Amino acid sequence: MKQASDETEELRADFLRCCHTSDWTLPARWLYDHRGSELFEQITHLPEYYPTRTELDLLREAADALRASIGAGRMLVEFGAGSAAKTPALIKAINPTRYVPIDVSGDYLRESSAVIMERFVDLEVTPVEADFNRAVPLPQCHRRLPIIGFFAGSTIGNLEPLQATDLLRRMGETLGKDALLLIGMDRVKPIEVLQRAYNDSQGVTAAFNLNLLTRVNRELGVNIPVADFTHEARWNAARARIEMHLVANKDLSFSIGQERVTFTAGKSLHTENSHKYRFEEARMLLRCGGWDPIQSWSAPDDWFTLFLAKRDVLEEYFQDGDDNCVAQ
Ligand code: AVI
Repeated sequence: MKQASDETEELRADFLRCCHTSDWTLPARWLYDHRGSELFEQITHLPEYYPTRTELDLLREAADALRASIGAGRMLVEFGAGSAAKTPALIKAINPTRYVPIDVSGDYLRESSAVIMERFVDLEVTPVEADFNRAVPLPQCHRRLPIIGFFAGSTIGNLEPLQATDLLRRMGETLGKDALLLIGMDRVKPIEVLQRAYNDSQGVTAAFNLNLLTRVNRELGVNIPVADFTHEARWNAARARIEMHLVANKDLSFSIGQERVTFTAGKSLHTENSHKYRFEEARMLLRCGGWDPIQSWSAPDDWFTLFLAKRDVLEEYFQDGDDNCVAQ
């Protein structure tokens, strides 16, 4: 497991690297310290933030169709289980034999697994604390169960398309041949809806974004004047994504160790991308990642789509040692 000090050094390196590039982009993972994860959880309950409830409604509405297509008795592997808010709806629909949530955050994993175990007493729950950006050995099973992966929340949208296809391939390696994948993908929609979702009236998303600077101050011993930055959600039409930025309200500078970092007024730190996909683009992304979309369920007005995909046979051509029951 990674030590806290390794994380701090990675944050320092990423922050300094970002201040030396032309686009000042920091990987979005740094938004999620303990406070950031709490704020994100609050975001999912905001009236303006449609993805969580829309995906949950879809899972409930599509329950019969999901059961018919996926069938009971699978091993359900959830990537980035987090608070596992949508998992009960899927478990009810497809009645899996075993549930394997994978998450880097051990605390979250233990909490959410306990909730699932309490609620579904006959389900075998085997949490795996791991970074699912790499192929993860799944727990040993006494018999080979068919597998379904679940990647909810359109988290795939937080990655650049090239990274997203890499991740989809790693998921394919984790799940093995013949696996299915159920993945939520957020769709392109009117800009005003997106702006409201990423710049809500209660300022929770702003607090989530600004918390990144508080984290940098605390963990790197820096003194960035947080109050001199403003949260901004920008629609980048060319890349079909919402970008979160922290914009300096005035010229300012601060030190990180020996380095002096200067922001001129209006300069921004780019903290997150949230890509939105048109239907055919979403299908293409899945195919580039080694998954063949076989069925989909879309919310009213096509705001969000759940795709069921099957591991592409061609993908196996590129893989070796493909087995979903690896000893840990
Ligand atoms: C985690 N992820 C899918 C969220 C999103 O919508 O891109 C993160 C988020 N950022 C601001 N609001 C929510």
